[in-house]
Amino acid sequence: MIHGERVRLRAFERDDVPKFYEWVNDPEVTFGLQLYLPMSTLDEEKWFESAMQRSEETRPLAVEMRDGKRWRMVGNCGFLDLDWVARSAEIGIMIGDKVAWNQGFGTEAVRLLLRHGFLTLNLNRIALRVYEDNKRAIRSYEKAGFVLEGSLRQAVYKHGKYKDVLLMSILRDEWRARNEEE
Ligand SMILES: CC(C)(COP(=O)(O)OP(=O)(O)OC[C@H]1O[C@@H](n2cnc3c(N)ncnc32)[C@H](O)[C@@H]1OP(=O)(O)O)[C@@H](O)C(=O)NCCC(=O)NCCS
Repeated sequence: MIHGERVRLRAFERDDVPKFYEWVNDPEVTFGLQLYLPMSTLDEEKWFESAMQRSEETRPLAVEMRDGKRWRMVGNCGFLDLDWVARSAEIGIMIGDKVAWNQGFGTEAVRLLLRHGFLTLNLNRIALRVYEDNKRAIRSYEKAGFVLEGSLRQAVYKHGKYKDVLLMSILRDEWRARNEEE
């Protein structure tokens, strides 16, 4: 497990699937995600099975927040497209439990992923893609230290319009400088 103060990241369990099914069918949650169609429980089970087949480093992780003396699962996150030569990867995150939004949990989960990526996986660059109108996500990534690299113009069509996809990244040296300061 990857432990933070109020958040921890743990391996997926099959029992987590019903919660994911609920979240990926919530339009507010999927607003900024590459999900367009209603998802069935079978879709989610298949997604879980394929996720378990990925390399260990890129298997998604469940995000849990501290809830009194217990831990409660509120979402998932993980690495995608790991390139071991360039030592580069992308990350993705979904806090599906909307009650947990805007309290810093997403940012803490991203910070834990960065620490894990740089200090355990020995990555040099961690990047992500975010839709231009996903303001909460952009703000959260900025707080974690990501900087804007550029944008893919009108790269997605969602909610009746084309949207730019912003590319953001953080390099290991930048992350280290921030963490030495903190
Ligand atoms: C994006 C996500 C991971 C952020 O996690 P979170 O726990 O809600 O975010 P945090 O509380 O850590 O930070 C959110 C920040 O955005 C700010 N924010 C919220 N809504 C905003 C808006 N409309 N405009 C600008 N800033 C906004 C919050 O005030 C907070 O900043 P602050 O701490 O400076 O006040 C989470 O909301 C989520 O998973 N959403 C659904 C799926 C998704 O969009 N995933 C990302 C795909 S790229």
